[in-house]
Amino acid sequence: MAKKVVVVSGASSGIGLSIANLLTQKGYVVYGLARRTPQGKHEFSFISTDVTDDAAIHQAVATILEKEKRVDALINCAGMGISGAVEYTSKEEFQKIFDVNVYGTFALTKALIPALRETKGMIINIGSVAGVLTIPFQTFYSMTKVAVSTFSEGLRMELKPFGVRVVTVLGDTKTGFTAAREKQQTTDPGYAKRLEKSVKMMEHDEEHGKDPITVAKVCARLLKKKHPPVAVTVGFKYKLFVFLKRLLPSRLVNTILFVMYGK
Ligand SMILES: NC(=O)c1ccc[n+]([C@@H]2O[C@H](COP(=O)([O-])OP(=O)(O)OC[C@H]3O[C@@H](n4cnc5c(N)ncnc54)[C@H](OP(=O)(O)O)[C@@H]3O)[C@@H](O)[C@H]2O)c1
Repeated sequence: MAKKVVVVSGASSGIGLSIANLLTQKGYVVYGLARRTPQGKHEFSFISTDVTDDAAIHQAVATILEKEKRVDALINCAGMGISGAVEYTSKEEFQKIFDVNVYGTFALTKALIPALRETKGMIINIGSVAGVLTIPFQTFYSMTKVAVSTFSEGLRMELKPFGVRVVTVLGDTKTGFTAAREKQQTTDPGYAKRLEKSVKMMEHDEEHGKDPITVAKVCARLLKKKHPPVAVTVGFKYKLFVFLKRLLPSRLVNTILFVMYGK
C-alpha cells in the first residue's frame, strides 16, 4: 500500500515541527511548509511557503501532487500571536494576524480539498483554548482562534458526505510562539501595568505548558481515527477550563478572566 502523505503548515518550529518529525518517524511521507527552514535536524520534505501568499500555496500544492499524486491529511499549524490593547492596535496588525491565522488556514485547506476528497482524508486545525476563553489584551488572537474553530466545524459538516474528517486541536505548549508574539508597548497609564501583567501571565502559562510532542502525539492518534471528535483539548487543566466555560454563567467566566488577565 502507498505511504500516506501529510502536509503540515508551520513546520519550521514548535508544534508543527514536532508533528512533522513524529509523523516522519511513524512512516508517513511528510511535507512541511513555513517561511523559514525547520530548526534542527529534520527528515521530511520542506517547501518554503508563506500561507498568506496564494501563488506560493498553489506552487507548493502542485509540487506535492506532482510528486506524490495524493494527499491524505493536512495539519494547519501555521499561526502567530499579538498582544496589546484594542484601543492601540493598528489596522495593519489586525489584518496581519487574521491573514496568517484565518486566511492562511482557509487558503491552504481550499487548495487541498480536492486531493483530500479523493483519499477521504483528514484535516486537523490547530486552534487554541484562547478561542474558547477570550483573553483580554490577546483579543485579536482569541478572535482568530474562534474563527479557526468555527471554520473547522462548518467544514466538517460540508466535507462529511465526501468522507473527509475535520477536527480542531486545542492546547497550550512550550514553543517559540511566546518569543515570536508581537507585543504592543504602551505608555497609557490605564493599560501599561495591566498589559504587562497580562502578557506575563500568558507567557508563564505557555512556558509551563506541555512539550509540543504531546500535541504531535494527539495528532498522530487522530489520523488513525475513522470517527474523530469535533475538537480535542490537550492537557487536563485545559480540558477542565473548557468544561467549566460550558457550565458556568458567562458573567462569572468573564469576571474570572478579568481578574486573571485584565486587572
Ligand atoms: N504555543 C502555544 O501555547 C499554543 C497554544 C495554542 C495554540 N497554538 C497554536 O499552535 C500553532 C503553532 O504555534 P507554535 O506554538 O508551534 O509556535 P511557533 O513555534 O511560533 O510556530 C509557528 C509556526 O507558524 C509558522 N508561520 C507563521 N506565519 C506563517 C506564514 N505567514 N506562513 C507560513 N507559516 C507561518 C512559523 O513559521 P515561519 O515563521 O518560518 O513562517 C512557525 O513554523 C499556532 O497556530 C498557534 O496559534 C499554540
